[in-house]
Amino acid sequence: MKINVKINDENTSFEISPDEYLVETLRKNGYIGVRQGCDTGTCGVCTIHVDGKAVLSCVLLSAKVDGSEITTIEGVQEKAKVIGKHLVDEGVDQCGYCSSGTIMSILYLEKCIENPTDEEILHYLNGNLCRCTGYVGQLRAIKKYFGGRLHENRK
Ligand code: FES
Ligand code: FES
Repeated sequence: MKINVKINDENTSFEISPDEYLVETLRKNGYIGVRQGCDTGTCGVCTIHVDGKAVLSCVLLSAKVDGSEITTIEGVQEKAKVIGKHLVDEGVDQCGYCSSGTIMSILYLEKCIENPTDEEILHYLNGNLCRCTGYVGQLRAIKKYFGGRLHENRK
């Protein structure tokens, strides 16, 4: 079957099977920045945005997103570079496998809350697991990202 979507601002269509999950559809069509991990909705590495909301693409059937607007890490490269630099600066980008999902969750948080508290950051990021680092450095990096962004907005 075929689905039509707008992905990273481009209209396209994908050929899918009815039981296929979105992470598989995206990766086989070249969106390999979307990571595949647990495949059970528990690690967060497959996080993308569908119609403006952060979702786990490993538990979403591709057939369900027909007509939707999708954003993957490939569509947010500029912001991803800025956030990625903060992660590297805080020493929390080690194997990097979790980073694209984490960044998509940070960008969703940014859409929802302009100046999040530590508790709000932890709440929005609690579905993004990282096997390499503690989460303290990530929190520092995210706070620096939001701090810098607010500074830019005030200029
Ligand atoms: S691969 Fe989707 S939550 Fe782990
Ligand atoms: S940096 Fe390796 S899983 Fe997060």
